[in-house]
Amino acid sequence: MRLQGKVALVTGGARGIGRAIAELFAEQGARVIVGDIDAPGGSASGRITWRDLDVRDLASWQAATDAVVEEHQRIDVLVNNAGLVGAYEPIDEISLQDWTRVVEVNQTGTFYGMRTVIPHMRAQGGGSIVNVSSIWGMVGCPGVAAYQASKAAVRMMTKNAALSYVADGIRVNSLHPGIADTPMIAEQDTAITAEVIAETPMRRAAAPREIAYGALFLASDEASYVTGIELPVDGGYTAP
Ligand SMILES: NC(=O)c1ccc[n+]([C@@H]2O[C@H](COP(=O)([O-])OP(=O)(O)OC[C@H]3O[C@@H](n4cnc5c(N)ncnc54)[C@H](O)[C@@H]3O)[C@@H](O)[C@H]2O)c1
Repeated sequence: MRLQGKVALVTGGARGIGRAIAELFAEQGARVIVGDIDAPGGSASGRITWRDLDVRDLASWQAATDAVVEEHQRIDVLVNNAGLVGAYEPIDEISLQDWTRVVEVNQTGTFYGMRTVIPHMRAQGGGSIVNVSSIWGMVGCPGVAAYQASKAAVRMMTKNAALSYVADGIRVNSLHPGIADTPMIAEQDTAITAEVIAETPMRRAAAPREIAYGALFLASDEASYVTGIELPVDGGYTAP
């Protein structure tokens, strides 16, 4: 029960990594609110509730956050997990629409989330924010220009927030998954997935739960002296 009594808001928790995080957090004693544009299918446990949230929309954030605070009086943990790859083209080929679509979710969505939740965390005396970036926010690869830019921005917004709110008792860290077995990856070209797995020292994709354990550590009081870090959970991808 590593999150006993905590209230956690997890974005993009209807499927994939976000869903694994929501389920693990609930098992560890948290009351979890999943904010997503899609309702979760299948078995959401009794400790998980779902709320309509579009991370691109500040008003949607405000409505979701107000509802959580009204019901639970606090938000201890925010996981900014909602994200998409969206477009695989390099800078001179990506359409401006695709650029904006990806940046709006991955970067601006994370900014809006922190902007909306931080005042509540300050007022209650602290909290933990986990921003889900990627190995592609740490190391370069060809193509996927908007994804790389937005995930690198998440990494640095995390450090900025960690330093800005350290005196308020708010810890802010980024999580950098390697390739994980989720619907997002199932939807992409299998050749791309095979190439990334071949370049991963462990030679396999992660189960979403293996990524979720990284979020659990950062969210919990076990990480009470941890802020501003970037935690790769990547099968060794960024080690070389
Ligand atoms: N799967 C991987 O290999 C991998 C690797 C590194 C980083 N990541 C990151 O992990 C996070 C989760 O990835 P995943 O593979 O589980 O993705 P996924 O596509 O399987 O799930 C993403 C979830 O986010 C939700 N979402 C999308 N846009 C949203 C919006 N505007 N508002 C609210 N919710 C929205 C979707 O409805 C979905 O439930 C993403 O930020 C992704 O970039 C994934």
